[in-house]
Amino acid sequence: MQARTVSIALLSLSLGSGIVLAQPAPALQPSTPMPWAYAVNTPGLNLPAASGPQHVPDSPLELVFPRDRFSPPDWHPEDHPAMPAIVATGHAPQIMACAYCHLPNGQGRPENSSLAGLSADYIKQQLADYRAGLRKSAEPQMSPPSLMQAIGLNTTAAEAEQAASYFASLQPRRWIRVVETAKVPESVVSGWMYIAKDGGGTEAIGKRILEMPEDLERTELRDARSSFVAYVPVGSIARGKQLATGNGGKSTACNACHGADLRGLGPVPRLAGRSPSYLARQLYDLQTANRKGLWSPLMATVVAKLSPEDMLALAAYIASLEP
Ligand code: HEC
Ligand code: HEC
Repeated sequence: MQARTVSIALLSLSLGSGIVLAQPAPALQPSTPMPWAYAVNTPGLNLPAASGPQHVPDSPLELVFPRDRFSPPDWHPEDHPAMPAIVATGHAPQIMACAYCHLPNGQGRPENSSLAGLSADYIKQQLADYRAGLRKSAEPQMSPPSLMQAIGLNTTAAEAEQAASYFASLQPRRWIRVVETAKVPESVVSGWMYIAKDGGGTEAIGKRILEMPEDLERTELRDARSSFVAYVPVGSIARGKQLATGNGGKSTACNACHGADLRGLGPVPRLAGRSPSYLARQLYDLQTANRKGLWSPLMATVVAKLSPEDMLALAAYIASLEP
């Protein structure tokens, strides 16, 4: 029941740009070999929060900030069907609105997950796995997955049903621009997301994927039309494609279960075009049995022999596909 006590205050709704480093940041000890996938906030970093009336492009609305986690902004209501209450406002005090993290159109953010177009059966099974304590994160310092555990624990069967059919009805759309590159902006982590360091230069990408908002200010205002860019090492998309088709001999062809073009098959989740950070976290969590839900054994032989570099390549390739 520990998850129930996780404070929602951990997830700061930090708004606006302009970064203030209050003190030198002590080095974090990552719990995994892929800290790029498990973003942990840079200590001592405070983004000034937006307050007062706000606007985003292509929306006539004026919304007043700050907002709590039970009234997330819905800038573009015409982009999605009417949200059931559990999605739009949650169920205070334990369940924050699903739309606060996964966005009203289900496109999600790098620190959580896209839900648009997953099957209702799959979504309900994942909530059941969270409730049963079978989905944990390999990085305990990353708060959002713990918050999701608490939400899974507290969601009633009726709420799970409503949320599942809502997100299953949404059409996933292209959301992440995948760019192969040798150099990336210097970065820090705020709001559990990599962002460009204020006044920073560039540095070598190394063996990581760096997924960042295209427009930090709009992302911080939770504009569900403001998308992401993922910088990936040169050559990783082709290498990922080879692994995904089983040619590398390290894994099974993904489309056998995830469907043609990896757009999902029955209850098996769609993968194409989703956040590479999220995809890589799941591969590693499955490999390390931090994720061991009812259907996870089907992935056991798939992930058994993958190295962190293989997971990176698979995530880069799959994120680059049309959703
Ligand atoms: C505090 C933010 C937050 C809220 C609110 C939230 N989630 Fe999540 N959710 C997450 C995170 C973070 C993950 C991914 C965890 C990880 O990386 O393993 C996730 C993952 C999921 C998944 C798994 C997706 C997959 O592809 O396997 C489902 C399903 C889900 N959430 C449903 C919901 C529903 C339904 C609600 C509302 C009742 C909700 N979430 C509210 C943060 C949140
Ligand atoms: C034998 C069938 C099978 C094969 C082959 C397979 N998968 Fe899966 N995969 C599944 C199932 C079933 C799940 C859901 C697991 C769960 O619920 O815990 C899943 C889940 C996933 C997830 C997590 C998705 C999410 O929304 O959280 C990722 C990422 C993934 N698979 C990637 C791959 C990749 C990459 C390959 C090929 C290298 C692959 N899978 C091959 C059956 C398969």
